[in-house]
Amino acid sequence: MAIERTLSIIKPDATNRNLTGKINAKFEEAGLRIVAQKRIHLTKEQAGKFYAVHAERPFYDELCEFMASAPVVAQVLEGEGAIAKNREVMGATNPADAEAGTIRAEFAESVGENSVHGSDAPETAAEEISFFFAGIEIVG
Ligand code: CMP
Repeated sequence: MAIERTLSIIKPDATNRNLTGKINAKFEEAGLRIVAQKRIHLTKEQAGKFYAVHAERPFYDELCEFMASAPVVAQVLEGEGAIAKNREVMGATNPADAEAGTIRAEFAESVGENSVHGSDAPETAAEEISFFFAGIEIVG
């Protein structure tokens, strides 16, 4: 399998509870390398741009409000099949459906406050990485 990069975000519910290190340990234990990382406080407008694909969904406003409510940690994860592997480590979007041992099963509070975001495909990974990082900031 090819070496891939994917965009990960540790969301406000997790940064509020000081879970960045525990979540990063899950990534690293799964063989994913954190090759870029920054802690930022998004504006609601920036969150809206990032999640523009969900603009028509009923939860869009709530999602943008939440993502701008506290700092997030944006990161690039690298590894073999990193996009699928990260989704495996995160678990299902709704923590009620997430498998035991996954980040969302252990830490997420609800479908909205679900601790982490991860890109879902190679094209979105490339777009989402460039939303947060310049090439020079990614050090593999
Ligand atoms: P994420 O992987 O970041 O992509 C879009 C996000 O929308 C998703 O995780 C959830 O946090 C959020 N989301 C999905 N469904 C709902 C919902 N029914 N109510 C609130 N937020 C949701």
